[in-house]
Amino acid sequence: MFSISRDELGPNFTFGAATAAYQIEGGQTDGRGTSIWDTFSSTPGNVKNLDTGAIACDHYNRWPGDLDLIRDGGFDAYRFSFAWPRLIPEGIGAVNPKGLEFYDRLIDGMLERGIKPYATLYHWDLPSPLQDKGGWMNRDIASWFAEYAAVVGHHFGDRLHATATINEPWCVAFLSHFLGIHAPGYRDLRAASRAMHHVLFAHGTAIDALRAESVKNLGIVLNLEKTEAASDKREDLEAQNLGDALFNRWYLDGVFKGRYPEALTSRLAEYLPEGFEKDMEVVSRPLDWLGINYYTRGLYAAGPNGLFGAERRSGDLETSDLGWEIYPQGLEDLLVRVNRDYTKLPLYVTETGMSETNDERRVKYYDDHLRAVANAQGQGADVRGFFAWSLLDNYEWSQGYTSRFGIVHVDYETQVRTPKASYRAFQGMLHNTR
Ligand code: NOJ
Repeated sequence: MFSISRDELGPNFTFGAATAAYQIEGGQTDGRGTSIWDTFSSTPGNVKNLDTGAIACDHYNRWPGDLDLIRDGGFDAYRFSFAWPRLIPEGIGAVNPKGLEFYDRLIDGMLERGIKPYATLYHWDLPSPLQDKGGWMNRDIASWFAEYAAVVGHHFGDRLHATATINEPWCVAFLSHFLGIHAPGYRDLRAASRAMHHVLFAHGTAIDALRAESVKNLGIVLNLEKTEAASDKREDLEAQNLGDALFNRWYLDGVFKGRYPEALTSRLAEYLPEGFEKDMEVVSRPLDWLGINYYTRGLYAAGPNGLFGAERRSGDLETSDLGWEIYPQGLEDLLVRVNRDYTKLPLYVTETGMSETNDERRVKYYDDHLRAVANAQGQGADVRGFFAWSLLDNYEWSQGYTSRFGIVHVDYETQVRTPKASYRAFQGMLHNTR
């Protein structure tokens, strides 16, 4: 059970659960094209146990039961993503009718159950033919992505409650092109620098395409961390400042101020796409809401094992089973910071959660993070919703199926879903106050 009650988050607060296409759908059939995650996951060394999303939670076939779980849990909303290669198998050009039909069924299924659809256009499954052309390193991605956004907007737009362009641009750019941990697995500062700009430029062109299709309620989902310095020594504070610029400010400053942090434009000057400044007006197109995914803090110290001498350290807080420090205060601080320094737009916690098999810890995690949201509201942050990551145990990218974030357990042999204590805690809170 949670100690917090629904009322403490305000009368119109939206509670939801979140997933993403590649992590749950499976269903590599009916004309779905291949994505960079299909090939990356099948390449030895990238993912634990060589796990792939080929079957995942078989949500492609089991979606009605999954939507029932959302409704029965008392949730108001479902955050899901469209698989670009299911809708446009080559990335651009011909649209796959079976792909349209799948998301028609899914969205209509939500509406029939009284669940608000919160859609994400890009949750990392780039169509392979676009990677062959350079993917996020190629400036043309901005027009490819806008074309895809227009298809989604035209066909589904009037049924979507809210639409986000990109999920976690830091992961799309830096984790995938500099740290090499996610597809396409580059470790190259030039590749990363280009992706860091193109991902936000493409976000902006997609916003224009969605507005042209009269799609309402548009946003982006940023993964943000509370950054802290390991000590108050000048060089550690400088490392924190750089870590914060790379993780948080590149995206926040870009989207809300139309410029990138000088600490990075100076250091990345030789790698950034020429003339990127001219795109900043598109990067910073007005939005209707901001989604924040929050999991942990970033602790920095000066040292050789980090870009530009900003080294990430592990701290001494309690951790999840992935070793991520649990830090609800960081969520409160971040929400207040974003509201104070960047935007008065409505904020949504579009993801938070923990990888853990002891579900009592997950109950406490959510209780504490909901409390953090209420505290941030008390300090003026206009937070309107909270989505649990994730509805289901699912394919956790390079961790494969070893890591379980669900509030519902999935037996991958039988595909049986079993609600966990955390699901019951949400259900208790949400049903009591309806
Ligand atoms: C954020 C990502 O959006 C999601 O795909 C991932 O599973 C969770 N973080 C947990 O790592």
